[in-house]
Amino acid sequence: MRFLQQIFQEQRKAKIIVFVLLFFISLTGFFRLNQSRITELEDFMESVIQSFVISSADGISVGYFQWDDMYDSVKSKDESFLDHYKHDILSTFTIVDEIETLNVPFDGSTFYKFYSANQELYLYFGIFDSATDLYIKDQMIRMKFNPANLLNQVLVTNKLNFNITILDGERVEDIQISSNENILRFFHFISAIFIGFLGIFFLHTFNKYSISSHYEIEGLANIVMLLSKKDAYTAEHSKDVAKYAEIIAKSFGMNRKQQKTLEKAGYLHDIGKIGISESILNKTGKLDEEEFNEIKKHSTIGYEIVSQFPNLNEVAIIVKHHHELRNGKGYPDGLKGDEIPLSSQILAVADVYSAMTTDRPYRRGYTGKAAFEIMEKMSLNQELVALLKQNMVQ
Ligand SMILES: [Fe+2]
Repeated sequence: MRFLQQIFQEQRKAKIIVFVLLFFISLTGFFRLNQSRITELEDFMESVIQSFVISSADGISVGYFQWDDMYDSVKSKDESFLDHYKHDILSTFTIVDEIETLNVPFDGSTFYKFYSANQELYLYFGIFDSATDLYIKDQMIRMKFNPANLLNQVLVTNKLNFNITILDGERVEDIQISSNENILRFFHFISAIFIGFLGIFFLHTFNKYSISSHYEIEGLANIVMLLSKKDAYTAEHSKDVAKYAEIIAKSFGMNRKQQKTLEKAGYLHDIGKIGISESILNKTGKLDEEEFNEIKKHSTIGYEIVSQFPNLNEVAIIVKHHHELRNGKGYPDGLKGDEIPLSSQILAVADVYSAMTTDRPYRRGYTGKAAFEIMEKMSLNQELVALLKQNMVQ
């Protein structure tokens, strides 16, 4: 039985390899997918914040600092006029934290400039006379933008935390948003693992119903091949039994899965003969009682072999009872009538029909008609015999 162990070991190894591979494929696949979605979200938020900052700066510049009254009051050092509008700006634009007037030179080349230091964003506004293109050359208005308020203005969710960094320059092209990586990556990782396991669950289900059954059938096919070297008749006869069993199952109205199960049982029903000595199997003369008892063991041995394969449990039970007879005189358990699984009864009819119609070295096979005449007197399920007869004898 070493080759059997080998088949099981190979099967286990293949399962583990496929499991590990698929787990990592699902995990990395989902991780990448998630990552690209996060990058997209960050890019989107970046552009939203940039547009918001620029439109706010444009609005403040046009609304307050490109205006002849403002120009005139600053020029004439009328601080109360400017103070009034500073308050107005602070109450209207929540993103503005502080406003102060600085005595710095200004060249009039742009309406406003951005400046950032220590994660803070500053805007420097020039003061223009809208009617004449004149501007104040020795003063600018500096505003400090509040990054937290800025984010509150544009974010509908606070599930993500962003840092904002704005570099020197006139345009807000350097705003960078980085998500709160630790939290995000943690959820990202957890969800990837979850999806990985979900992938494995599907794989396992798939594996259970197809891949492993493929390996199992292949493993069993090897055993059948070994059996055919030992006992050529049984191997050949098994093909016929599979065919007849499927025919009966179909006529009986069994579903496709049940038909396939019976077909497998047909191929494997005498697999237990691999455990019976060749001298008994190939003996052409009459078997003595001891030899016959030895032969009888094949249905139980077959059950033991086939039941090793988890997906073939149903097949194993069919195999075990394929020599039961309705009168209780069959083996191994002497089940009676409907105690015998229906599929085993089908297999029994298929088995007997195949055995009777096949030539053996010591006798010629019966014709179909003659075989059915004998079978109609045997302790088989006669409904099933009739179904096969309908299909075989036209
Ligand atoms: Fe048998």
